[in-house]
Amino acid sequence: MTQPVRYDRQGAIGIVTIDSPPVNALSQAVRQGVIDCVGQGYADPAVTALVIVGAGRTFIAGADITEFIKGGMADPDLNDVNALIENGPKPVIAALHGTALGGGLEVALSCHYRVAVPKAQVGLPEVKLGILPGGGGTQRLSRLVGAKTAIEMITTGTFLPAAKALALGIIDHVGEGADPLSVALDFATRLPAGPHTRTRDREEKLAADRGTDVFDTARAALAKSARGQFAPQRCVDAVEAAFTLPFDEGLKRERELFTECMAHDQAKALIHVFFAERAVTKIPDLPADVTPRKLEQVAVLGSGTMGGGIAMCFANAGIPVRLLDLDRAALDRGIAVIAKNYAGTVAKGRLSQADMDKRLSLIQPTTDYADLADADLIVEAVFEDMDVKAKVFRRLDEVAKPGAILASNTSTLDLDAIAANTSRPADVIGMHFFSPANVMKLLEVVRGRHTAPDVIATAMGVGRKIGKVSVLVGNCDGFVGNRMVQYYATEAQRLVIEGASVEQVDKAALEFGLAMGPFAMGDLAGLDVMGFIRARRVAAGLIYGTPLSDRIDPSRKGQKNGRGWYRYEPGSRTPLPDPEITAVVDAYRAERGITPREIGNEEIARRLIYTLVNEGARILDEGMAMRSGDIDIVYIYGYGFPAWRGGPMKFAELSGLDKVLADISRYHADAVAAGDADGAYWEPAPLLKRLVAEGRNSFG
Ligand code: 3HC
Ligand code: NAI
Repeated sequence: MTQPVRYDRQGAIGIVTIDSPPVNALSQAVRQGVIDCVGQGYADPAVTALVIVGAGRTFIAGADITEFIKGGMADPDLNDVNALIENGPKPVIAALHGTALGGGLEVALSCHYRVAVPKAQVGLPEVKLGILPGGGGTQRLSRLVGAKTAIEMITTGTFLPAAKALALGIIDHVGEGADPLSVALDFATRLPAGPHTRTRDREEKLAADRGTDVFDTARAALAKSARGQFAPQRCVDAVEAAFTLPFDEGLKRERELFTECMAHDQAKALIHVFFAERAVTKIPDLPADVTPRKLEQVAVLGSGTMGGGIAMCFANAGIPVRLLDLDRAALDRGIAVIAKNYAGTVAKGRLSQADMDKRLSLIQPTTDYADLADADLIVEAVFEDMDVKAKVFRRLDEVAKPGAILASNTSTLDLDAIAANTSRPADVIGMHFFSPANVMKLLEVVRGRHTAPDVIATAMGVGRKIGKVSVLVGNCDGFVGNRMVQYYATEAQRLVIEGASVEQVDKAALEFGLAMGPFAMGDLAGLDVMGFIRARRVAAGLIYGTPLSDRIDPSRKGQKNGRGWYRYEPGSRTPLPDPEITAVVDAYRAERGITPREIGNEEIARRLIYTLVNEGARILDEGMAMRSGDIDIVYIYGYGFPAWRGGPMKFAELSGLDKVLADISRYHADAVAAGDADGAYWEPAPLLKRLVAEGRNSFG
C-alpha cells in the first residue's frame, strides 16, 4: 500500500503531501504520516519552510469519521500533530484547495500561513455531526476572527469561500489558478523573514470580545434556533474558553466538551445520518457497469400543484421541459402559478429577474402529445385516478420515443398496474416528489417489478442533478414515507380520543423536534384529500384515521380554506385552536363513554414515533426499503424529522430495540383490550421481534 503522506522537496521548500483518497481524511495513518513527514522537513537542513498540501480533489476534509464509529481515535492525537506544526522550528504553509474542513482546517490553523486557490472552501462543520472541533479549532479560529464570527461558523458549520475567508483573516493569501502547491511555492518565495506568528499567540481579537455579552446572546439565540440540540451550546462554551482561559487550558476545555458531545446520542444519530445520506446512492443489485440513459429533454404531464413544481425543478437545473395539460386554460393556470412562485423568489432577492426569465423560457407549455416525442424522460403528474393514469400511459406508449423513461408521480397507486398499460414496463418507474416539489428535498424513486437497471440508475442520477436526495423504494401502498405516516396520523387521533388535545399532540411532536405536528401537517396536506384516502382505505378494510375525523365538518379542508383541525386567520399559516374542534372531540368522547385521561407529552411523542418504527420494520422486512438508514433519510428530508434524532429507525436503536418492542407490545395489548381495531397497527413487526429475540439492537 502506498503511504498516505509523503515528503519531498523543491529547492528549499519541504513538501508534505497528504494522499489518502477520497477526501484525505485524518485517519490514524495520516496523522502519523504528517508527524513523520513534518519531522523529516524540520530535520532537513536544506529546507527553510514547509508546505502541507492535499493530493487529488481536496485538502484534508476533516477527521476520519469512520474512526468515530469504531470507538475513537488512536494515537497520535490531532492536538499533537497540530502542536508539532505550530511549535516547530520552521514556518509551515497550508496550501488549500477543495474543502478544508473540520480537523483539516484545524491543521491549517496550526500552520503559520494559509494560502488557497480561489475555489477552495473552509469550514468547521463538526456541529453537523453533533460534535465540536476537537483539534484546537475553537481556540485558534476565535483568535483569528473574534467571538461572533467564530460562534457563527462553528455553530452552523457553514463553508466559506476562499475570498470570504481571506477577508475575515482566516487565510492569508488567495492565488490564481487551480494548483494549490504552485500558489504556496510562490507565496514561499515572498515569505517574510520572521518571526512567524503562531495562531495561539494572536491576542488582539481576544481582548476585543472578552467580557462582552456575545456568548450569552449566542446561547439565547441557539436555545431557539437549535432547540433540543446538545452540541451547538457546547460550541459556544468552547469558544468562550478561548477568551477566558490560557491557550493550553482552553484546548483542554475544548477536548472535554468534544468528548461530552461525542458520547451523546445526538452525535451517534448525526454521524449515522451522514453515512446514511451517502449510502442511499448505493444500490447493491445494480450491475456495476450500468450506464444511465441520456437526459437532455424532459416532459411533465399535468401542470397542477405537483406538475408545476416538478417542471420548476428541471428548469432550475437548466434542463428544458415541456409541460402538457388537458387544455390551454389549465396550462395557463399552471404557468401563472409557476411564474408567481419565481416572482416571489425574485422579490426576496434570491433570484435575478434574468434568471427567472431564463428558467421560465425553459418551460414550454403544450397540449399536444406529439410534442413529447423528443423527451428522454416524461414525468406524469395528472389526477390520482387509475383510469386517468391508464389512459395517459397508453397514449405515452404511442408517442414516446424508444428508450424514453416513463415516470409516474403517483402517491398511492400501484406502479406495476400503471406500467401494464404500456408495451415497455421496463422503462416505467415511479418518481414520487413531495409537495412543494420545487422545495422539498426528498425524491422517492419507486422501482416496479419490471423496471430496468439503467432506468433506476438514470432516475437516481436525475434526482441528484435537480438537487434532491433520492431514495430507492419498493412498490407498495404509500411506498415508504406515506405508508408510515398513515399510522402516525391515526395515532395522533387516538391520542386525542383518549384525552390529549389537538394542540397538545402537536406540541409534543414539536418538543420532540419534528418540524410540524401531525394535525398541522394534516391541515397542510388537506383534510379533504385525507378524507378521500380514508374512504378508499376503510372500504378496503384498511386503517387510515379514526371515526373522529369523520365527525369534522367536511367543509373544513385545512389551510386551503382556513379551517381544519385548527383555524387560520386570512393570509396566515399560524394554526390557532378552534373551540368548534374541541366541541367535536368532547361530543365524540361523551358518545363513546370515554373519560379523558391526562397524557404526558413524552408518551405522546413516543407513541407517534413508534408507529413509524413498527411500520418501518415491516417495510424493511418486506424489502420495500433497502436499509433502515434509507427510511431515516426519507423521514428527515420528506417529513421534517429531526436529523439529530437520527431518523425513526436510528432513534429506536438508540432507545433500545427491546424497550421499543416492550412499549409497542403494551400499546398493542391496550388496543386489543379496548377493542379498538384502529390500533391494530401496534401488532409488533416480526422483524422487531426477531431482532430482540436474537439479542440484537440494530436493524443492520
Ligand atoms: N471521514 C471519512 N470519510 C469521509 C469524510 C470524513 N471526514 N468525508 C467524506 N468521507 C467519505 C464519504 O463517506 C464518501 O464515502 P463513499 O464514497 O464511500 O460514500 C466519500 O468520502 C466522498 O464523500 P462525499 O460523497 O460526501 O463527496 P462530496 O464531494 O459530495 O463532498 C465533502 C465532500 C464536502 C468533504 C463531504 O464529504 C463532507 O462534508 N465531509 C465531511 C466533512 C466533515 O464533517 N468534516 C469534519 C469531520 S469531524 C472532525 O474533523 C473532528 C475534528 O474536529 C477533531
Ligand atoms: P392537481 O389536481 O393539482 O393537478 C393535476 C393536473 O393534471 C391538472 O392540472 C389537470 O388538468 C391535469 N390533468 C388531468 N388529467 C390529465 C390528462 N389526462 N392529461 C394531462 N393533464 C391532465 O393534482 P396534484 O396534487 O398535482 O397531483 C398530481 C399527482 O401527483 C397525483 O398522482 C398525486 O397523487 C401526486 N402527488 C401529489 C402530492 C400532493 O401533495 N398534492 C404529493 C405527491 C404526489
